[in-house]
Amino acid sequence: MNQVVISGAGLWRPAHVITNEELVEAYNAYAVRFNEEHAEAIASGELAEKPLSSAEFIEKASGIRQRYAYIKEGILDIGRMRPKIPRRREEELSHQAELALHSARIAMASAGKTGDDIDMVIVSCAYTERSYPAIAIEVQNELGITGTGFDMLVACSAATFALQRAHDAIAAGSARAVLVINPELTSPQVNYTDRDSHFIFGDVSTAMVLERADTCTSVHSYEILGSRSQTVYSNNIRSNFGYVAYAQDVDPFCAENLFHQNGRSVFKEVCPMAADHMLGQIDAVGLSIAEIRRWWLHQANINMNQLIARRLLGRDPDPEEAPIVLDEFANTASAGSIIAFCLHHEDLDAGDCGVICSFGAGYSIGSLVIRKR
Ligand SMILES: CC(C)(COP(=O)(O)OP(=O)(O)OC[C@H]1O[C@@H](n2cnc3c(N)ncnc32)[C@H](O)[C@@H]1OP(=O)(O)O)[C@@H](O)C(=O)NCCC(=O)NCCS
Repeated sequence: MNQVVISGAGLWRPAHVITNEELVEAYNAYAVRFNEEHAEAIASGELAEKPLSSAEFIEKASGIRQRYAYIKEGILDIGRMRPKIPRRREEELSHQAELALHSARIAMASAGKTGDDIDMVIVSCAYTERSYPAIAIEVQNELGITGTGFDMLVACSAATFALQRAHDAIAAGSARAVLVINPELTSPQVNYTDRDSHFIFGDVSTAMVLERADTCTSVHSYEILGSRSQTVYSNNIRSNFGYVAYAQDVDPFCAENLFHQNGRSVFKEVCPMAADHMLGQIDAVGLSIAEIRRWWLHQANINMNQLIARRLLGRDPDPEEAPIVLDEFANTASAGSIIAFCLHHEDLDAGDCGVICSFGAGYSIGSLVIRKR
């Protein structure tokens, strides 16, 4: 088996920011207008009144202060409440491939690799813009990479599950180097008219290059000591949008087809699962909790991360031990733990160990234990 390293990482931020205050102002204006327009139906009990949102609640309940938007136009327009993303011709680069290329190029430059060095591209995220051709094949074509490209959807764990696939392919010798990209274009799947979830997601793109240790020339590289993925079925986080809606005579974009969740249950069920998963994985590679210097955790909710870190460490984590990035980025589906890694890894010393871990819909949990070289 080949020894596998992470040799490059790339983070790309969209140009537009939406603060909690802006989002709440738009949602509340929408809700007031909705309640006025449907006053009779609300009074008769036929429709539920839209409750008001609050920026203070969002920050306190989630830790989120703002989010990035690939395209901001339309999201805050109370006559629209969704981004206005122009349709591109089939000959043009697709939106998601564009996002993917931004972070892929940064990751390849940091690994010192060109398209000739890479044999596989995995685009792995919560949603893809189309079914086929795969976004990964479009990206592969743009980067001049020969070999294989495919898309993978595993909601919040898409990135870690793809990293495990990349690791296994390199370890087994079926690829020299693999580019894993997470173009998380989440904003089109957010129900901006739903108070409980309008604040949760942001857009971003992340990427990593994995390769054999003997080809690595990168300044910052991390040996993968072990990786593990785990799934347990749950209905608590769902997005039902899909191609079958066309045959079901329902509005494909109705509220129940967009992201929705039972946030409390997710919180209660996923925290212990994620902590146990990491404990088992760290033990399996022969390390102890005290030997882990950094925890690059999934970024859905600051309170979740603190609870998980407390369960692992038996105390509150120092901010640099388990960095939080969701205040700036919100929940970016599978990219959260990779953003945390991108922003907080260069200060580690050779021999320092860390854990990348995602958790979310499915339920799905994925982790990698890594050591700086
Ligand atoms: C989503 C989440 C932040 C909500 O926080 P919470 O503390 O569980 O909040 P609740 O939904 O229980 O709501 C608490 C109260 O605030 C209210 N509330 C909910 N959203 C609100 C908003 N935007 N503004 C103001 N009040 C709000 C609720 O109606 C409720 O009021 P009540 O007590 O009178 O019924 C939290 O459950 C969470 O992060 N869960 C983790 C799951 C997750 O993020 N998954 C994403 C995919 S991985």
